[in-house]
Amino acid sequence: MCGIIATVGRASAVPVLLDGLKRLEYRGYDSAGLAIVTDQGLALHRRVGRVRELSSGVPADLQSTVGIAHTRWATHGKVTEANAHPHLDGGSRIALVHNGIIENMGALKARLEADGVVFRSETDTEVLVHLVSRYYHSEDEAVTAGDPVAAVRAALRAVRGTWGIAVLFADRPDVLVAARNGSPLVVGLADGQSYLASDPHALVPYTRRVVFLEDGEMALIDANGVQTFQQDGGRIDSAVETLEEVWGDEDAGGFPHLMLKEIHEQPEALERCLSGRVIPETGTAHLGGMDLNPRDMARLSRVSLLGCGTAYFACQVGARLIEDLARVPAKAEIASEFRHRNPVVDPEALFLAVSQSGETADTLGAVREIQLKGGNVVGVVNVVGSSIARACGRGVYIHSGPEMAVASTKAFSNMVAALSVFTLMLARQRTLSAHQGVVYAEQLRAVPGLVKRYLADPGPIDELVKWVTDSRMVLFLGRGISAPVASEGALKLMEVAYVPCIAYPAGEMKHGPIALLEPGSPVIVVAPRDDVCDKTLSNLQECRARGARVAVIHTEGDDIGELADLSIPVPATGPFFSPLLTVLPLQLLAYRTGLVLGRDIDRPRNLAKSVTVE
Ligand code: F6R
Repeated sequence: MCGIIATVGRASAVPVLLDGLKRLEYRGYDSAGLAIVTDQGLALHRRVGRVRELSSGVPADLQSTVGIAHTRWATHGKVTEANAHPHLDGGSRIALVHNGIIENMGALKARLEADGVVFRSETDTEVLVHLVSRYYHSEDEAVTAGDPVAAVRAALRAVRGTWGIAVLFADRPDVLVAARNGSPLVVGLADGQSYLASDPHALVPYTRRVVFLEDGEMALIDANGVQTFQQDGGRIDSAVETLEEVWGDEDAGGFPHLMLKEIHEQPEALERCLSGRVIPETGTAHLGGMDLNPRDMARLSRVSLLGCGTAYFACQVGARLIEDLARVPAKAEIASEFRHRNPVVDPEALFLAVSQSGETADTLGAVREIQLKGGNVVGVVNVVGSSIARACGRGVYIHSGPEMAVASTKAFSNMVAALSVFTLMLARQRTLSAHQGVVYAEQLRAVPGLVKRYLADPGPIDELVKWVTDSRMVLFLGRGISAPVASEGALKLMEVAYVPCIAYPAGEMKHGPIALLEPGSPVIVVAPRDDVCDKTLSNLQECRARGARVAVIHTEGDDIGELADLSIPVPATGPFFSPLLTVLPLQLLAYRTGLVLGRDIDRPRNLAKSVTVE
């Protein structure tokens, strides 16, 4: 989604901005642009499409030591050069980039237009730059005129919504102004050079010394450092932190695509998540970052898991594990729905906010709603130091390592693994016997090896690819813990290959979706060996009876494969951990179908990696 990089100092700004934009590419975007201050005033360059197209249009001899740049993921207004950021004020003396949404754009725009302001884009952001200009340039605004921080502050008082902004003033090439409300920003500090980015990943080549801005804060950044302020007033002392876990370059490491690389990284990613946390000798688990003592866990009234997209499906797996194994009522919720239904927040419940990026606006919004209502929420997050991790203050890092392909694969597995560890810990402190704990701990510890074995010889995926490439619709079915796996498989095939899919709990199929089946319709059934497997097989038969072509993902050694048109066996594990195996063929199916159909696998159309707007 939208990304910001900015710099001020001794170094030439353009190479830093272009490099930063490239590092933000993985988030997904549709256009890019930059603005710098030169001897002639502001220079603006914008392009629809990739950063490399922007780079090729920027003259190599462009000299400047201050600038702001942006990757846009369209919200208000089409994907056009005019709508790309930065946006300029009427006199082209101020440039501004913005992540987030200005909700009262309509009223503000009407007022500005009535005062004679001419708009050059369809974006909500442009309202903001004209407002800043009004307060910075107008003689009537004695308090704010000529004062970059005061002008931005006054403009922000008029707007409602979310923002992470960087503002550049042609007559103040020594400074940048930034403000955050709901969209992340981090300031990077180096010797004689400062940076601003929406994602610490963009700062990695330059510095590890950073100041995270919090909601409601502003910053005045110059070559020597940063001053931070509350948006409504005084100075604040912000802590300078060191980025501990620094992600390297985006690099497919010998694989043709990042997605395939990340699928194959799952054995080591799972190992990282499980090792030191699962203790097979005692059948227990340990998650220090949760900061929950046995008494807290004994008292828990319920567990609510919140996430979006793939993270939500991981939450559904987690909820089933927690309820079944730890015997605590547990429910998964779509985070984007949560705060809009005025939820009752039980102070005795535990909420888990599950997110790869740690920046998903809907999940962060749910965290804030829970905290506002006195609830107890912890993060289950991949990106260290991300907004959700910091807002929760406690939690579990899933440790999948950098996930750069837009479609989530190894993060799903590590979310499920981290939730499995949590379940084991909770279960042992409530009802689970030591004997059973040992069994589950050993099963979990064996999973990375089984994943590795499956990926080395994944079975007839290409046959399945042939079925789905030309299909009008693919139906995914699963029961119990496999229902969310079916949903995740459908999501992956839709987003990577653009094949229409629906996923249903297998028992629900006969209550509606069965009407879609006609001879040859592809149906993918997830049916590992567990106590609902036989019931799922009845649904499989119902599909075949209507002429559908059925592929079944099942536990190797079972003769279930004979009941279907195509059998894809996966290694056996305990029934609670089967999603970590059954999801693998579905990831490969999405990847290989996308490949055959010539899709942009790592950057599927319209999608963003980090969804920082609601
Ligand atoms: C699917 C996908 C999205 C994300 C969702 C939540 O492949 O990537 O559905 O899972 O946007 O993102 P995080 O986990 O960063 O909160």
